[in-house]
Amino acid sequence: MSIDYTQRIPNNVDLSSDRRLQRALENWQPRFLEWWKDMGPDGTLNFDVYLRTAISAEANGWANFGYVKMPDYRWGIFLAGQDPNRVIAYGDNKGKPVWQEVPGELRSTLRRLIVTQGDTEPASVEQQRLLGKTAPSLYDLRNVFQINCEEGRHLWAMVYLLHAYFGRDGREEAEMLLERHSGDPDKPRILGAFNEKTPDWLSFFMFTYFTDRDGKYQLASLAESGFDPLARSCRFMLIEEAHHMFVGESGVQRIVQRTCDLMKEHKTDDVRSLGAIDLPTIQKYLNFHFSVSLDLFGQEASTNAANYYTMGVKGRYLETRIEDDHVLTDSSFDMDTADAGRIVRKTVPALSALNERLRNDYIEDCARGLIRWNRVIEQAGIAFELRLPHRAFNRRIGAFNELNVSPEGKVMSEAEWKANEHKWLPTDEDRAYVTSLMGPAVVEPGKFANWIAPPQRGINNQPANFEYVRFN
Ligand SMILES: [Fe+2]
Ligand SMILES: [Fe+2]
Repeated sequence: MSIDYTQRIPNNVDLSSDRRLQRALENWQPRFLEWWKDMGPDGTLNFDVYLRTAISAEANGWANFGYVKMPDYRWGIFLAGQDPNRVIAYGDNKGKPVWQEVPGELRSTLRRLIVTQGDTEPASVEQQRLLGKTAPSLYDLRNVFQINCEEGRHLWAMVYLLHAYFGRDGREEAEMLLERHSGDPDKPRILGAFNEKTPDWLSFFMFTYFTDRDGKYQLASLAESGFDPLARSCRFMLIEEAHHMFVGESGVQRIVQRTCDLMKEHKTDDVRSLGAIDLPTIQKYLNFHFSVSLDLFGQEASTNAANYYTMGVKGRYLETRIEDDHVLTDSSFDMDTADAGRIVRKTVPALSALNERLRNDYIEDCARGLIRWNRVIEQAGIAFELRLPHRAFNRRIGAFNELNVSPEGKVMSEAEWKANEHKWLPTDEDRAYVTSLMGPAVVEPGKFANWIAPPQRGINNQPANFEYVRFN
């Protein structure tokens, strides 16, 4: 069904046929806008931003580009098309038709999954709200705003499900999604990584590379849900998510490019003296964001994950493309875990290892960007390699929480870890240095801050000096 933009809330779910639901969401809408004004990108209400808006929920040709004032962005409810023959692909309910309503016994489980996903969406907007002040170019400024608008839309996607399928509890949860705030000591966001700060653009690009990618994997496994409206919501969100990860990957790549260009041109490693970000500092930020994002996948051994799977609410990454029985009661899985102060390999029941399996898929995906970043370094003839740290490095959640592990995977005493931490994670001094580069926003079309290279091409094939944001 195509998106109806004549409605106050654009949608492709025939919202006007359910007056009660429509009214409830129209009541929530001004509260969302209030939140956007208070907690969204700071001081931007008058900007005209060259943004894409969904015009159809089909895979191709869905984006429409034009100047929009962000509070006027057409946030709405867009679900990917329905497959009338879709069946549950795994677990106890394998082969049965997917659910169009929430089965009573899965109500609280599904609600919790939707709330946890929904909570991350406005959280990242809050984390990024000051970045516009220090954007390295109009191109980058536009990209952070695009991401913010789409994360706002992802919140809409989850709030629609809560309102439409979870009655009063759902409406209350939708309110709470606007009341918790990133880093708020009294009402923090649910997950740790979403209470961290995103104070500078290196952090932003690492966040969109690593943490938005966690989002991709969570959404992809929820896109396998037997609860069809959730699956269809996530399928469309994944299309939007791809751009966020592109911004992260290309952003880091452009920083690496600029650093290497300066190293070559001035025949020095000391690019800080030239106002750029040295490769070891980039590695430390990478270490931080990767390890924090790994925690988002939860415990290695998880009965919750097993139950989600068995009940048919959350599948594996690309479940239907995996060749096995999709029940997993007789399967096992090999994984690293901690035991008596060491990292050990264990064979465990596959059902209890689903978080770890998803984390594996994620790590593999993360490694691909590093190949491209390292190619830039190699092409500059510089002997340096960016690496993903060991999965046990700097973990707060799961079995490795009890160990002190170096990026190479060596287990050590706490004293040894503490003595080396400054080499592996950004120090206060590193952060202060990176922050010091973040300067007033570069607002001249076609110009870029000194520490980052221009992108290879513009958004929607616009020329290099395109005016992506007009400030009025
Ligand atoms: Fe999102
Ligand atoms: Fe995202």
